[in-house]
Amino acid sequence: MSNSKTYLITSALPYVNGVKHIGNVAGSLLPADVFARYQRLNGSKVVFVCGTDDHGTTTEIAALKEGISSKEYSDKYHEIQREIYSKWNLSFDIFSRTSSIENHHTTCEMFQLMYSNGLISQSSLKIPYCLVDQRFIADRYIEGTCPNCSFDGARGDQCEKCGKLLDPIDLIKPRCNICKKDKIEFRESKHLFLDLFKLSDKLKEWLTKQTDWPVNARNFALQWIEGGLKPRCITRDLDWGVKVPLAGFENKVFYVWFDAPIGYISFTKQWALKDSNNRNWQEFWKNDQAQIIHFIGKDNIAFHSVIWPAMIMASGYCNLPTRVQAYEFLNLEGKKFSTSRNWGIDAKEALDWFDADYWRYYLISILPERSDANFSWKEFQSAANSDLADVYGNLIHRCLTFTHSKFGGLVPKPTEQSQWTENQIKFYEQFQITCKNVKELMNNYKLQEALRVIMDFARQANKFFSDSAPWKLECDSNIANDASTTIFLTVNACRSIALLLYPFVPSSSIKAFKYLNGQNIELCSIDESASLMVESGTKIAEKEVLTPLFTKILDEKIEMYSTLVSSRSKSI
Ligand code: 2FM
Ligand code: ZN
Repeated sequence: MSNSKTYLITSALPYVNGVKHIGNVAGSLLPADVFARYQRLNGSKVVFVCGTDDHGTTTEIAALKEGISSKEYSDKYHEIQREIYSKWNLSFDIFSRTSSIENHHTTCEMFQLMYSNGLISQSSLKIPYCLVDQRFIADRYIEGTCPNCSFDGARGDQCEKCGKLLDPIDLIKPRCNICKKDKIEFRESKHLFLDLFKLSDKLKEWLTKQTDWPVNARNFALQWIEGGLKPRCITRDLDWGVKVPLAGFENKVFYVWFDAPIGYISFTKQWALKDSNNRNWQEFWKNDQAQIIHFIGKDNIAFHSVIWPAMIMASGYCNLPTRVQAYEFLNLEGKKFSTSRNWGIDAKEALDWFDADYWRYYLISILPERSDANFSWKEFQSAANSDLADVYGNLIHRCLTFTHSKFGGLVPKPTEQSQWTENQIKFYEQFQITCKNVKELMNNYKLQEALRVIMDFARQANKFFSDSAPWKLECDSNIANDASTTIFLTVNACRSIALLLYPFVPSSSIKAFKYLNGQNIELCSIDESASLMVESGTKIAEKEVLTPLFTKILDEKIEMYSTLVSSRSKSI
């Protein structure tokens, strides 16, 4: 039975400034990629879009510090990020940027619709102005005490501790985070608002129906609506951003969070135009049969499950998201990743230390699906050495080297299926059971469990090989006997496992496929993992090429990198 569908998959757009840490990768980019890769193998039509979130004060301030313009700054860091993600093997169909002309156009277009639909209002706001820096200060750069939970490091846009969205004026004892002084004055400035409250009932009705969403995303949204939605300011006194197309607002730009999710649409438009394949962005955004799936970290829930759907409702521009797949946070050795405390592993250095597949495997194995997860160096090492090297890598290596030593590198002919032993029949049944279970889990976004099921199958395959002990049996390439059936089935299990693991560890699976028979894994269907696709007589790769898929990570390396990460962190 096919569950192939049409999917528009997004991962949260990383802010263009700074290199992201592995928590950002684990929290939306990586699971989105695994899901996209899986759905492609599942025969679904998939467009996976992402790009940098270029606008906003953070970029302006970072650019000022580097002595370059905001545009130059975002050009530079967009490229840096693009390169890092390509090394992580993130299979975006397009990696664009919110400062693109298409995104400016689409933002203005959607705004005009919201405006003409009567969902935008105007009002004067008191904006924090720093007397020291002599400029309006953006929400994120104002800090103070949260009126909701009393956390003292709350930012003007959101409290990191309780998640509540804030306005700077709500903060108790506000201070400027650029100059660290409390010389803040609130000055009048005219702004535009999205009238969220007018959409409360519609949003509530829609969210109530999303019973299969992760609970964090749905509950947060419903609770927020229950507490009463207020008009949300969508403009800022800044230069760097999408200019507001309305008389009287010429000196303002849209708030970065207004044009960012619109990027998902404009990037799809750009993808559609990338070549002349007659692609249609509306097939994904205006088609009731298409699934729009947003992969995000929990800090982005408010925007994706309330504000973004409200923007879509207010404009009527496209369909609402099908699902907001929100993840909890990843901690590092029990502590939150923190740029200010220099506590983290950045996404670039991670790949200088170990290949992407090691990270991809471990991070998905601890994916924070229901609660915060913890990265531990010891567990990382054990995932690499025990699971990847000892189980998966070893299975492929022992099976293929045996095929060389005893069968001259040709997959042997098995006995007739009717003559298979109970053990062989049971093992073959496992192919179908595993494929079915993995598909079901993956279709239901249970990536972590799917990975565990595949590794269990790899363990069973090793056990089958060991228990069958083909080295004790007669091995003759001209005779179909127990040994040849064992090798035939194990070689096929290697192919199935490599195929099932492809969304998780793509480079190693591609390599494993080359070892087996050189087929292009990307053209395969996930359903093949249930069958015996490697025929007897297939020539596997030459002995010299069969290097182990994974090398073990030595204690010294773990010691070296964990010490480096710890020693550079500051305690505040
Ligand atoms: O939190 C962040 O990193 C934001 N840049 C995510 C934006 S996602 C989207 F809506 F564009
Ligand atoms: Zn200041």
